[in-house]
Amino acid sequence: MDKIVVKGGKTLSGEVKICSAKNSVLPIIAASILGNGECIIENAPMLEDVFVISDVLRSISAEVNIDKESNRIAIKSSGISSIEPSCDLVKKLRASFLIMGPMLARFGRVRISLPGGCNIGTRPIDLHLKGFTALGAEIKLGYGYVEARAEKLIGSNIYLDFPSVGATENIIMAATMAEGETIIENAAEEPEIEDLANYLNKMGAKITGAGTGKIKITGVKELNGVTHKPIYDRIEAGTFMVAGAITKSRIKIIGVNEEHLKPVIAKLTEMGVVIEVEKDVLILDGRRELKPVDIKTMPYPGFPTDMQSQMMALLASVNGTSVITETIFENRFMHAPEMKRMGANIKIDGRSAVIEGTDKLTGCQVKATDLRAGAALILCGLAAEGVTEVMEIYHVDRGYVAIEEKLKALGAEIYRV
Ligand code: EPU
Repeated sequence: MDKIVVKGGKTLSGEVKICSAKNSVLPIIAASILGNGECIIENAPMLEDVFVISDVLRSISAEVNIDKESNRIAIKSSGISSIEPSCDLVKKLRASFLIMGPMLARFGRVRISLPGGCNIGTRPIDLHLKGFTALGAEIKLGYGYVEARAEKLIGSNIYLDFPSVGATENIIMAATMAEGETIIENAAEEPEIEDLANYLNKMGAKITGAGTGKIKITGVKELNGVTHKPIYDRIEAGTFMVAGAITKSRIKIIGVNEEHLKPVIAKLTEMGVVIEVEKDVLILDGRRELKPVDIKTMPYPGFPTDMQSQMMALLASVNGTSVITETIFENRFMHAPEMKRMGANIKIDGRSAVIEGTDKLTGCQVKATDLRAGAALILCGLAAEGVTEVMEIYHVDRGYVAIEEKLKALGAEIYRV
């Protein structure tokens, strides 16, 4: 199993290019099930999660061609002949559940193995199923599977108890070909939802309000194949911003949308990091003395939970007391005990973490417990004295393209074993 070895203490410089957003590309691949004709995704990130969801589509006989040289994915769904994707693949990737909405819209039936809990929380799917039920689907649960059927989906008014990203995406996709109008209220507002809606609208869907809490979908008869280039990955950009700040460096990050990064820019600025953005280029200067801050994760446009562990790494290395409150996932502090092994002073109390920063982090062997936790431990390694070995790096490969090569190009002493 691969591990990443980091020798801390290097200052970074130069520039890094950001990929397209994993969390846009996954629903966009699922949405391609809806297209008559070929759907092409350009500048797709070549990530493990992208390969797994592509295999999920292949397991129901969709044709998926991935060109790793040109970062292009071509999908033809005309050959889909099964309503039941491979259970083993679905278990590997929770986002596989995103094929439910499109399958229901296009074929009126889907049977999929229930996703289990995962490291960061139990992550139920009740809101997805409530949405499908409101559109007229019949849901059966049993024997570890969920089956949804509908002769015909009919538009409906749906109020989400919580602005779930996945449920909003799944319901939008199911409603694209439903009869009449669907309104989703208290919808998630993440930029990836707007990107999905833009993709679907290019295919011929009629969706307005995506990116706000109220989304309207007017059903259409059919959707076509299109070509699309997804938005930049705001979490990859945020991770490199922290890499610059934690090493007290000045770096250039190419491929950002300032609007999408506002909550991260605001917190880093509050800490004393100097950030300038022009068009899609961000210049970060972390060479000043940084101050501690308090952070509370919230649905977009609040501070993203996917940046929480990376910020904990930074705060662990900044003198003073910071508090992080995680409101989205109930178990997303698994990185804290690993950081403590590196000398971080962190106390967890329920959903809050109190961090007493220190400039004396020391390298040791630590374990990535999930994707963002793994990235955060690499960041700690950049600031720590000595050598840090981050084990179980496959978690990180699910969401970051060649993270160690990008950091090495910026001047970090880092390699994969
Ligand atoms: N929730 C429910 N019921 C549901 C759905 C969600 O109670 O039916 C709860 C979850 O248990 C969780 C909260 O709502 O506590 C938020 O979950 P959400 O559905 O918004 O998350 P998701 O769609 O499963 C996506 C991203 C995550 C990201 C979250 C929150 C993708 C593929 N995944 O997950 O990304 O953390 O939104 O922003 O888009 C990551 O990239 O590292 C990652 C975990």
